[in-house]
Amino acid sequence: MAVSVDDFKKALQLWASGVTVVTTQSEKFGVQGMTVTAFSSVSVNPPQVLVCINQAADTGEGIQESEHFAVNVLTVDQQEVSNQFAGGCSQQERFENVNWSASANGAPILNDSLMSLSCKVVNKVLVGTHWVIIGEVEESICRSNSPLLYYSGAYRQLAEG
Ligand SMILES: Cc1cc2nc3c(=O)[nH]c(=O)nc-3n(C[C@H](O)[C@H](O)[C@H](O)COP(=O)(O)O)c2cc1C
Repeated sequence: MAVSVDDFKKALQLWASGVTVVTTQSEKFGVQGMTVTAFSSVSVNPPQVLVCINQAADTGEGIQESEHFAVNVLTVDQQEVSNQFAGGCSQQERFENVNWSASANGAPILNDSLMSLSCKVVNKVLVGTHWVIIGEVEESICRSNSPLLYYSGAYRQLAEG
């Protein structure tokens, strides 16, 4: 018998993670992006990562169209960016007051994020409600700052020292 949804959600709240904005760009949909904590590295050589995207998310449709995406790991200063990309405003509005530039494959790189990975989709599988999308990393950009964290349903930051 499967665990109840409530118990499962309660357990997952105890998983601390970073926060990313996953972006893409296609002729059909333009620039798109959404806040995602379900991100993981998969393989070092070849360099591959995965993101889990709700099948109802517009951004997932754009990734399937463009076959490329970027993962932008947010800094402690980007809580508002996380909220902005989590819905409530149009895709165009999400990008309006953020500093971004297109990577070689077109996916938007958020220039003030902590780290950006530009990826080509190499595999995808629909698991329950979410697409698990695996990308091969074509470019990585690292910057210096402190990460934004998410734990127990709230944003957090690293303790000093
Ligand atoms: C902290 C946080 C983490 C989130 N993580 C995910 C995630 O891992 N996968 C996902 O599909 N949605 C996640 N979401 C929800 C999406 O960001 C949200 O549904 C978004 O509006 C989808 O945008 P779109 O449908 O316009 O593409 C998260 C939201 C927040 C606030």
